[in-house]
Order: sequence, then C-alpha cells, then structure tokens
Amino acid sequence: MATPHIAAEHGDFAQTVLMPGDPLRAKMIAERYLDDARQVNEVRNMLGFTGTYKGVAVSIQGSGMGVPSIQIYASELFDSFGVERIMRVGSCGAIQPDLGLRTLIIASGAGTDSNVNRVRAGGHDYAATADFSMMRAAVDAAASAGIDAVVGRIFTSDYFYHPDPAENERLAGAGFLAVEMEAAALYGVAIERRKAALTLVTVSDQLITGERMTVEERQETLDHMILVALESTRALS
Ligand code: HPA
Repeated sequence: MATPHIAAEHGDFAQTVLMPGDPLRAKMIAERYLDDARQVNEVRNMLGFTGTYKGVAVSIQGSGMGVPSIQIYASELFDSFGVERIMRVGSCGAIQPDLGLRTLIIASGAGTDSNVNRVRAGGHDYAATADFSMMRAAVDAAASAGIDAVVGRIFTSDYFYHPDPAENERLAGAGFLAVEMEAAALYGVAIERRKAALTLVTVSDQLITGERMTVEERQETLDHMILVALESTRALS
C-alpha cells in the first residue's frame, strides 16, 4: 500500500535498505552496484530502487537532508513495506583534527540538537545507538576488505550553518567525531520499532582544517563505503 511519500507496493522493497541523502546518488548506487535494479519510488523525486547484490535483495532509497526528512522515509519503510534494516550511507564533517578526508566512520551512536529523541524519551536524554549486529557486520566487512574504519559517536545537527562559531569545538571537546544531519533520527525511528539501523559516513569536509574532498576522492570513498554496506548486508541475510 502506498504511503504519503512512497508510492510502492508491499514487497517492492527488500528487507535491507541503503539510504543516501541524495536521490540521484540512490540512482547511481543502484545502477552501478546492483543487478536487475528497478525503480520503486519517485514521489517528490525521492527515488527508490530494488535489485540484488551477489544474489541478495537490496533496496536503495533517498532520505533527503535532515532529521524530519529521514524520519518520514524511515518510518514509512519500516511501518508499511516490511523493511527490517536501514543503513544510512552518507557524508559528514569531521571535527576531530586527526580524522582525515575520506575516513569511513561507523557511527555507534549519535547525539543531537534536534528534539525528536527527547520527545521519544518523555523529555529524558536518549541513547541513540546503532544496531549491534549491523555494526559488527560492518566492522567485519571493512576489515575483510582492508578498508580502515573508525567506530564512534557522531553528532546529528539541525544546522548546516550553525549560528555559534564555537559549536564544533564544544562538540569535539565532548568527544564527537563528526557532524551530519540524520543519524540520531534514524536510530530513534528504528529503536522505537524494534528494528535495526546503522549509519556509515565518510569524511567529506574537515571542519577543523577546512579541507574538502575532490570529485575523484568522493567517488573512491563512495566505492569503499558501498562495498562495506553491501558486504555487511550480504553477511546479515
Ligand atoms: N555539516 C553537516 N553535515 C555535513 C557536513 C557538515 O559540515 N559535511 C557533510 N555533511
């Protein structure tokens, strides 16, 4: 049954969905890495695809940017399409000086300045954590492929342009590795439904040194991240 934001049928999505923020990146991932990919959603141009990777069914659905957007898509995928696992595959800005561009971060948990998880916990702090099995599979897949990965906490911000210039320093002092805009909401949505979620992000911006990835670097790091995502999906299936 179609939902307000996903015009697909039950069964159109695989049990595992990879979610990049950009819908055109979803299309590119499906075309480049999956066999027999078909488009399953195009509402608001938030494209979704289903295909197979080494014989295992996998879907790729754009999440859009920010907490409300990923929260809508993740909720509808879990509630109406039989999805069991969502893996965000995105980018982030590193706020620790020793995290170079292209570093792959496996987000064990996510703090946030958004209020969504506080609402979930009745005003209390909320431990927005990744699913352990997915995290273990991702760590193992990265190790098997010889891809360096860092496991740690990231920060999900409602601000790409934060009004306080001291914010990143404060977050770095609190131990966060990087900032992005979706992980904490994805984890909250999954945890409240007893489903599974994980976030993989690569460092596209070094916010301490000001370095940014080139187009070629973006492609190569995407290859590594998608390999880890697909191989860990295969291991869990
Ligand atoms: N801030 C938030 N999200 C991001 C950034 C950033 O600097 N870079 C990539 N995703």
